[in-house]
Amino acid sequence: MDTGSSKRMVEIAGVSKLFGTVAAVSDATLHVDRGDFLTVVGPSGCGKTTLLRMIAGFEHPDAGEIRIGGRRVDAVPPYRRSIGMVFQKLALFPHMTAAENVAYPLKMRRFAPAKIPGLVDEYLGLVRLGDFKDRRPHELSGGQQQRVAIARALVFSPDLLLLDEPLSALDRKLREDMQLEFRRIQQELGVTTINVTHDQREALVMSDRIVVMEGGVIQQADDPVSLYRQPGTPFVARFIGVTSMFPGRVTKETGEAVTVAAGEATLTARGGGAVLGAGAAVECAIRAEQIAIGPRDGAPRFENAVDGIVRQRIFEGERMVYAVEVPGLGGAVLNVFDHDPVSHSVYDETQPVRLEWAARDLIAFPAGPAPAVTTENKPTGSLTT
Ligand SMILES: Nc1ncnc2c1ncn2[C@@H]1O[C@H](COP(=O)(O)OP(=O)(O)OP(=O)(O)O)[C@@H](O)[C@H]1O
Ligand SMILES: [Mg+2]
Repeated sequence: MDTGSSKRMVEIAGVSKLFGTVAAVSDATLHVDRGDFLTVVGPSGCGKTTLLRMIAGFEHPDAGEIRIGGRRVDAVPPYRRSIGMVFQKLALFPHMTAAENVAYPLKMRRFAPAKIPGLVDEYLGLVRLGDFKDRRPHELSGGQQQRVAIARALVFSPDLLLLDEPLSALDRKLREDMQLEFRRIQQELGVTTINVTHDQREALVMSDRIVVMEGGVIQQADDPVSLYRQPGTPFVARFIGVTSMFPGRVTKETGEAVTVAAGEATLTARGGGAVLGAGAAVECAIRAEQIAIGPRDGAPRFENAVDGIVRQRIFEGERMVYAVEVPGLGGAVLNVFDHDPVSHSVYDETQPVRLEWAARDLIAFPAGPAPAVTTENKPTGSLTT
């Protein structure tokens, strides 16, 4: 397949897929630049696999168009799309050695037999399995098997690599090692990659860009830092990071800052993208690591302060996690991460404390079902690049 030379490797415009009455994917628009690592993240059933299967050609969209390398692929069958794939459920051939598994796509694609052993060695070396080429899958660990699958997906130099939760079956430590390993290989080869996961940490660690989906709809597409710092919707704020929410009402708006009355508290927040006039009902979002916890008689450190009572304390080694009830916020419970390097203070359950945070870290979203509109998912019928 000739993939041309445009900057965009994958372009998806207004793509929808219905299964009976279930809208698995609704009007999805997104792109992946050449050499980028894009992760699609969202809860179970939000349409991630369906989106990936349409790109691979296993499902046909009911509406919209998909381009790979600038060309529409509607009529191109899966085996003619230059795509390597790794799935959650391993599909290694059990009777073949690691080397034979990696050689398989080369044979299928009729590579010159003389070239195959060299390529197999090269790609097994890339995934650091040079010494394991004669082992069969059952003689390899889960992580090693997954690396064989990666080598097999990449050995024929596909234009695009699709990953559908390939790490979800691995234990946490191995999964985290493999995330870095994937990223190293992807950067070494420069292969354009779309990864699907419901693990927000994996999305943040591995990606150049992240697409957040909910209920078949793309909520936001952005680079990891922007997505984390400027969530566009309450859903994104809750899904990425540990975020506490409570309701309020705008009393004053001055440029970027809004004053919010929440329970008995008056707080300063930043607007979450929308224009919020006085009187507007809002949902306020604050992340656990942005809240400072301390004694009630301490000197004020931030613009926003509320008094609370510790209800739960969990020691996670590198940090203490508190759930703090705040009567002045209508009894809202705020999650707090604390790794106080100064005092190493520990607060007991039922202990009165003060929570503080900066105005820029409190985001006020319009309350209610806000329309999710980003530059990526404005409803359009055609591609404008
Ligand atoms: N072949 C199918 N027939 C009918 N419904 C389907 C089919 N495939 C998927 N769906 C439905 O479409 C929706 C999206 O499914 P999809 O597999 O894309 O979700 P997902 O985001 O990959 O979820 P998970 O994280 O659990 O893998 C779900 O409601 C699912 O039940
Ligand atoms: Mg899935």
